[in-house]
Amino acid sequence: MRTLSPEPGEVDLVERYAYPPGVTWMRANMVASLDGAAQRDERSGGLGNAADRHLFLLLRGLADVVVIGAGTVRAEGYGPVRPSEGWDGVREGRPPVPPLAIVSRSLDLDFDAPVFTEAQVPTIVLATATADPVRLKAAREHADVIIAGRDSLDFPAAVRELATRGHRRLLCEGGPTVLGQVVAAGLLDELCLTLSPMMLGGNPTRILNGPPVDVPPDMALAHALQDKEFLFLRYTRNR
Ligand SMILES: NC(=O)c1ccc[n+]([C@@H]2O[C@H](COP(=O)([O-])OP(=O)(O)OC[C@H]3O[C@@H](n4cnc5c(N)ncnc54)[C@H](OP(=O)(O)O)[C@@H]3O)[C@@H](O)[C@H]2O)c1
Repeated sequence: MRTLSPEPGEVDLVERYAYPPGVTWMRANMVASLDGAAQRDERSGGLGNAADRHLFLLLRGLADVVVIGAGTVRAEGYGPVRPSEGWDGVREGRPPVPPLAIVSRSLDLDFDAPVFTEAQVPTIVLATATADPVRLKAAREHADVIIAGRDSLDFPAAVRELATRGHRRLLCEGGPTVLGQVVAAGLLDELCLTLSPMMLGGNPTRILNGPPVDVPPDMALAHALQDKEFLFLRYTRNR
């Protein structure tokens, strides 16, 4: 055993979290308590600290698109991505912010909310072909809609379409239902996991919520960072 991997010392986060060049890469960023809870009081914000928030924002800055489930958008009142401190240089040659790509079957979304009306880059909705036509029309009026799959989102097709549009550095911010399917579809290349020094009990979900994953990905520890009692683990997939 060793203390922290690879070795203790100050880190350049932009360098540490740089996406591999020239490939489509799906990173997920999640936080969990010591006993595996992905929620505290039905939100994830109560699990983090300032360093977690800083990393959360930096990872957005490094991404081309932020994939997010409609459940999290509703639970956390998601707004659009806004430029953030610490982004100096990271978005050179790219739009000022990555758009959100919201996964939704019901399209039960508030299209008059800032997440659509104040987005600097139009919010994307990842929808299904059998979505309610009236809601689909509303979605098309307020967002950039990608249809992938009939009754259920075809995640690989959605990722291919995002990549075709130049969104190859993907960041999935969950929630657990969406992340479970991203992993099940074999799409996850990297997990950034903040381990929060809390023990909460109760019945919150874990960071993956869904049926057992048929072929669990083989993950390797890329690094482990520490800020006070928090650990920031980065695992990448062995292919
Ligand atoms: N710990 C963390 O890092 C973390 C991160 C994010 C969120 N969270 C927490 O997790 C909770 C929300 O997570 P969640 O798992 O309930 O929701 P979620 O994964 O954010 O979103 C689920 C929603 O995504 C859509 N969806 C999922 N699979 C789909 C498919 N195959 N086809 C089409 N649409 C699909 C559906 O939207 P419609 O209902 O619109 O059809 C579904 O209700 C919140 O409490 C949030 O705070 C924690």
